[in-house]
Amino acid sequence: MEKPLRTSLVIMWLLLKWVSCQQKVDQNPPFLSVQEGENITINCSYSDQNSQGLQWFRQDPGKGLTLLFYLASGSKGEGRIKSTLSRNDRHSSLHITASQPGDSAIYLCAVDAQ
Ligand SMILES: *[C@@H]1O[C@H](CO)[C@@H](O)[C@H](O)[C@H]1NC(C)=O
Ligand SMILES: *[C@@H]1O[C@H](CO)[C@@H](O)[C@H](O)[C@H]1NC(C)=O
Repeated sequence: MEKPLRTSLVIMWLLLKWVSCQQKVDQNPPFLSVQEGENITINCSYSDQNSQGLQWFRQDPGKGLTLLFYLASGSKGEGRIKSTLSRNDRHSSLHITASQPGDSAIYLCAVDAQ
């Protein structure tokens, strides 16, 4: 049996902190190169204890941000993408199951800073 060709895709992610309309980028984008079909987990840790919620956005080259999820706690999912937030650990993950080339994008995690 022939193995289907697999495309690799690149996922990048960033942590953003919104401080009174200014956005502050806290890290250089780490990136992940994976093979189509692999499951991906990207992580986002933040330090602000007072943060009330967290958002995951997706950005495609030359386009604006698309909101994927807003989480106050717990988890949310849609199709192959799922996210979880633990406010105790100040940690959130975004899981992509059976990645596809179209999942290549920059994923951004943003926490409210109040
Ligand atoms: C990806 O996750 C799904 C659902 O959790 C699982 O069924 C599948 O075996 C995983 N695939 C790989 C390549 O680990
Ligand atoms: C995110 O954390 C999980 C669990 O600790 C780990 O398996 C995964 O490799 C991490 N993802 C990245 C891109 O570092």
